[in-house]
Amino acid sequence: MKVLFSLLLVLFIASPILCAKVGKSNIPNAFNILKYGAKGDGHTDDSNAFLKAWKDACSSTNGTPTLIVPTNKIFMTQPLTFQGPCKSATMNVMIGGNVTAPASRENWKPDGNDHDSWITFNQISGLVVNGGGTLNAQGASWWDKSANDRPTAVRFLGCNNLKHGPMTHLNSPKNHISVTGCDGVLISNVNLIAPETSPNTDGVDISSSTKVFIEHSIISSGDDCVAINSGSKFINITNVKCGPGHGISVGSLGKNGEYATVEEVYVSNIIFTRTTNGARIKTWEGGSGYVRKITYKNITLVDVKNPVIIDQQYNALQAVGKGVKISDVTFRDFRGTTKDKMAIQLNCCSIGCTNIVLEEINISGLNGEKPSSSCNNAHGSSSSCNPTVTCLGN
Ligand SMILES: *[C@@H]1O[C@H](CO)[C@@H](O)[C@H](O)[C@H]1NC(C)=O
Ligand SMILES: *[C@@H]1O[C@H](CO)[C@@H](O)[C@H](O)[C@H]1NC(C)=O
Ligand SMILES: *[C@@H]1O[C@H](CO)[C@@H](O)[C@H](O)[C@H]1NC(C)=O
Ligand SMILES: *[C@@H]1O[C@H](CO)[C@@H](O)[C@H](O)[C@H]1NC(C)=O
Repeated sequence: MKVLFSLLLVLFIASPILCAKVGKSNIPNAFNILKYGAKGDGHTDDSNAFLKAWKDACSSTNGTPTLIVPTNKIFMTQPLTFQGPCKSATMNVMIGGNVTAPASRENWKPDGNDHDSWITFNQISGLVVNGGGTLNAQGASWWDKSANDRPTAVRFLGCNNLKHGPMTHLNSPKNHISVTGCDGVLISNVNLIAPETSPNTDGVDISSSTKVFIEHSIISSGDDCVAINSGSKFINITNVKCGPGHGISVGSLGKNGEYATVEEVYVSNIIFTRTTNGARIKTWEGGSGYVRKITYKNITLVDVKNPVIIDQQYNALQAVGKGVKISDVTFRDFRGTTKDKMAIQLNCCSIGCTNIVLEEINISGLNGEKPSSSCNNAHGSSSSCNPTVTCLGN
């Protein structure tokens, strides 16, 4: 009896999950793309089914509408835009199955909205995109083109109170996820995967957004795991495994003399594995604006090339005596190994970086080599650092 009861209890608890997985209609207000003619055979173009289901979901007022992409099928779609605002204050997109872009770039038909991406979510508030499925942007056939000619895989534009994940993203032509103009974002339990050699395949790019949290995720690609660009503040990134890739970067900022600002960034509990950088801030000389109140804390390094790097003269050809101000930056509790000699590089231009604090750093070289640190115009303090950062003057 007890066993039977337990079994029933398990079934009872599991049933909404199971049904959600197969897209049964006991989810209230569900819009299943199969009912809109999607084939899910991996090669038929299902774009119209997505768009029609979305149109109905977005104009529904009957509770939170859920667009359902069922499991165990592969849906092929051309570039498309989920356009808001919607009638309902909250919208769900539950992707259990696999969604794939056309396998070769010759077969991509650009979306009329010209957002330069495969899938765009535009001006939708209270959006939840989850379901544990896979978005495969089939980027490989794009990687030989210049970055400007390649699309982002998934773009969130002006989506306030967004939640994304669990979900897997594979092989973007360029960056996997871009978050622009959003206030209140939680990205959790996402896997963003592309080969180490794939160009510009950032995991998440954030710009002009506030209160963005990224947590419990795995990002391995050919560029930054996360890049925090201008107009971003209150960004929290925690419990992320990054690598291979180029690390978690603030910037690059101030290109072509631009005014750029980033502040209140908190990065913690990160494992960088065989990345080219760990904690990085990069700004272009000649720009203006500021980067301030940035903390990197509790960082594990496995064979990282540049574990700590501030570069205020990124790609500078000549000194111009102008740049994006960098201040109030803390690197605390870093441990592990570097594969380069220069573990800590604080390379600031003539305007200097101020209040740079390094504490409890213990980075060893491979094969018993002793790494070192270097500074240019960097000011602040250090304590308990191995290698020592004596160059950090006051
Ligand atoms: C969906 O993609 C995953 C990779 O995330 C893969 O393992 C799985 O086999 C794919 N499913 C189908 C039905 O092809
Ligand atoms: C980010 O995390 C830190 C440490 O947990 C916390 O103090 C801060 O309030 C968080 N930021 C936001 C915007 O919630
Ligand atoms: C440091 O980060 C690791 C994950 O990299 C986590 O397991 C651990 O709990 C964190 N430690 C503290 C004190 O937060
Ligand atoms: C620094 O790390 C090395 C290698 O893991 C370890 O042997 C050493 O005890 C650590 N030093 C401190 C001060 O924690």
